[in-house]
Amino acid sequence: MTAPKKLYIKTYGCQMNVYDSERMAEALGGQGYVPTDRADDADMILLNTCHIREKAAEKVYSELGRYKSLKADKPDLKIGVAGCVAQAEGEEIMRRQPLVDLVVGPQSYHRLPALEAKTRAGEKALDTDFPEDDKFEALKRRPKAARGPTAFLTVQEGCDKFCAFCVVPYTRGAEVSRPADRILTEARDLVERGVREITLLGQNVNAYHGAGAGGDWSLARLIWALNDIDGLERIRFTTSHPNDMTDDLYEVHGTCPKLMPYLHLPVQSGSDRILKRMNRSHTAESYLRCIERLRAARPDILLSGDFIVGFPEETEADFQATLDLIEAVGYGYAYTFKYSTRPGTPAAERVQVPEDVKDDRLQRLQALITRQQRAAQDAMVGQEVGVLFEKPGRLVGQMVGKSDHLHAVHVTAKGVSPGDLRQVKIVESGANSLAGVLV
Ligand code: SAH
Ligand code: SF4
Ligand code: F3S
Repeated sequence: MTAPKKLYIKTYGCQMNVYDSERMAEALGGQGYVPTDRADDADMILLNTCHIREKAAEKVYSELGRYKSLKADKPDLKIGVAGCVAQAEGEEIMRRQPLVDLVVGPQSYHRLPALEAKTRAGEKALDTDFPEDDKFEALKRRPKAARGPTAFLTVQEGCDKFCAFCVVPYTRGAEVSRPADRILTEARDLVERGVREITLLGQNVNAYHGAGAGGDWSLARLIWALNDIDGLERIRFTTSHPNDMTDDLYEVHGTCPKLMPYLHLPVQSGSDRILKRMNRSHTAESYLRCIERLRAARPDILLSGDFIVGFPEETEADFQATLDLIEAVGYGYAYTFKYSTRPGTPAAERVQVPEDVKDDRLQRLQALITRQQRAAQDAMVGQEVGVLFEKPGRLVGQMVGKSDHLHAVHVTAKGVSPGDLRQVKIVESGANSLAGVLV
């Protein structure tokens, strides 16, 4: 018997890439590959890349450069680039870095086995099509392989919104929703393998409208169907767009027992002038109304957001409006970014904000977010929350997990195993996590 080939995947970017990497590893499992976490041990290296900001894309080339000596030592080593840089740059990647054997865009992963075979025949393999067939259906899951208590499940991909700064509509293509029955089958399979919490993923997950029994299903309807799966304890979803917040989605936040009290709802800016130039098609006011309705449905909901500073033409007054909106909302968590020009997007052509101004705004934004984040965490002290334990902590006897509100929580207790969902009383708030005791 020949030894199995080893596959090393390095994942950049968003959670959808994390999900895709897992599916790719399973697909290549059928070609005789087993996973390894060491590049120098691999027969195939696959970088699952992100194109969202310039730095993210450049990282890929510096990482590829490091594999030169590996390839010199092991001529049979195959190197592939998947993900959003693969889609955006295609053949250019092989021109810039000739050691790359394979380039595959996010919509062609079900063709990976054929592409891999092509590289084994000594050819270069490139596929950046947007095929019509359902890639996830063709990417077979490895049944029964055990796994940890939390999982991602992509239900929707692509984006039709074309925010003026963003590459996603170009790299992931148009919005597509997977059929509801396939999602539910996959969810049940995950639960049978030990999963207790599922996070539904999509670039615009709340725009989900998949075919299901009796017609088109909304995200809320899908969440209710997941709620009925025995053994599944928690449901989350990300990322949502303010314009796709529907009545049934507010309602499900108030009434669905397994849906967790947390929502990531990016707004990007608090200035209507900038929102318009970003092509966001919502205002600061309409966003604040979404927040109000969410809190009316679920008063303890924790909110997180994404913010961009230094978008072209952003003035100090525009930036101040962003700070004001953040003060008005009170976030539990946020991702903050300096605007990065992306080739091919409308905002790249506009007058840019100087780098030092961007740096200064980012610092002030982060200071405010850090304060809010800490306040939200401190407010948990004394409360009882559910914690899904995931793994042992740094200290002996410690277990760590996530609370309902997605805070990291650690307890020191006997008899707690990964996958256990327990009630915990929060006793202390640290820099990045909470300490608790079992109730
Ligand atoms: N709706 C998407 C957003 C994807 S990009 C989703 O489902 O995740 C994630 C975040 O990156 C965006 O919300 C935005 O804040 C940030 N971002 C996107 N393009 C950017 C750019 N050109 N420069 C800086 N930040 C950007
Ligand atoms: Fe990008 Fe905007 Fe689409 Fe989100 S909604 S993926 S930010 S274009
Ligand atoms: Fe990056 Fe593509 Fe996700 S650009 S953020 S990996 S959709």
